[in-house]
Amino acid sequence: MDFDTRAFRHALGSFPTGVAVMTTTGAVPGEAEDVSHIGITVNSFTSVSLDPPLVLWCIDRRSRRYPAFAEAPGFTVSILAAGHKAVSSRLAGPGEHRLEGIALTPTALGPPALADSLAVFECAREQIWDAGDHAILLGRVLRFASHAQAGAPLVYFKGRYGALAQGTPPEGVAGRRVTDKD
Ligand SMILES: Cc1cc2nc3c(=O)[nH]c(=O)nc-3n(C[C@H](O)[C@H](O)[C@H](O)COP(=O)(O)O)c2cc1C
Repeated sequence: MDFDTRAFRHALGSFPTGVAVMTTTGAVPGEAEDVSHIGITVNSFTSVSLDPPLVLWCIDRRSRRYPAFAEAPGFTVSILAAGHKAVSSRLAGPGEHRLEGIALTPTALGPPALADSLAVFECAREQIWDAGDHAILLGRVLRFASHAQAGAPLVYFKGRYGALAQGTPPEGVAGRRVTDKD
């Protein structure tokens, strides 16, 4: 089949997501075996299982950051707030994986989290599967923290950053969570 990859990517962008930064500790090829904390901006983060607690995300196997994430025993997930737009753009830049100059918070188990994140998940790498040009990284959540007061999420939609509209929710059901039981 003659598949238009650009159009496919564009169509996938119709699915709005949040934005997360994954951090780990490792070496990036071409940087003289220099082991350091590194990060990558992703929107492929997904919850998988409550019990056991599992999450996943996908990394481009062509990324220079891939070997570090594939080999590390774990990673830290930072869910970004609207105020993280600049740091999100920076950690999405080619070769821009270093965390120097970015406000960080230490974690109990390993790689630091971004300061002022909406939530942080400290994960052990449970599984990794090759999936086309990406790899799927499954993490077991060992610790987490949720910071409700941290404010609005950073949103990604059709290749652009955005924010949640503060308007009337669909069907006017204000103040009720979709997951609330009757
Ligand atoms: C909002 C956003 C979401 C992204 N999501 C992913 C993702 O889920 N997986 C991924 O591998 N790269 C993702 N990227 C691209 C990486 O952040 C980064 O640009 C790429 O790894 C840079 O290549 P390098 O590691 O070779 O320097 C995303 C970029 C942006 C701006």
